[in-house]
Amino acid sequence: MIKIDSINKMTEVERLKYMNLLLKGQLSSETDVLANISNSTAIIKLCINNINWSGFYFLRGSELVLGPFQGLPACNRIKIGKGVCGTSVERKEPIIVDNVNEFEGHIACDENSRSEIVIPIIQNDEVFGVLDIDSPYFNRFDEIHLKYLTEFVSIMNKYIKWNEFIN
Ligand code: SME
Repeated sequence: MIKIDSINKMTEVERLKYMNLLLKGQLSSETDVLANISNSTAIIKLCINNINWSGFYFLRGSELVLGPFQGLPACNRIKIGKGVCGTSVERKEPIIVDNVNEFEGHIACDENSRSEIVIPIIQNDEVFGVLDIDSPYFNRFDEIHLKYLTEFVSIMNKYIKWNEFIN
């Protein structure tokens, strides 16, 4: 059972480590990919405070299509090269945006979003989608989040064969 009280007392790094521990617990105890991806968005929402959206977009043809998420209803499709998510796919690199107003082409799904982090999902050199997290605060994400969220996606990569899920 998850103890929310104890999470509230954790430091940021403790929360991020706990997030990845919870993810390993989820992925090692369930084989259904959709259940695993869905709960992974809830694990992020639980462990990272001051965020308003956490979820996935998956590459289908030349577009990213919305996957499981926590937060307000979001745009369904994003073209490669568009927005923060599409740019991350094009570059095959994670992106931290301190101020979404300063990112040209940022796609605002929730008008409260102020900063954002996007981690591409890359397996065997192929991009399958992105993990996207938004915050209603400027400068919410830094190198520490990048480190643990990159690890988060690596853990998912160990358990999920994305080509079987996407195609
Ligand atoms: N802001 C993203 C769009 C997705 S929402 O944040 C959920 C972007 O610019 O790609």
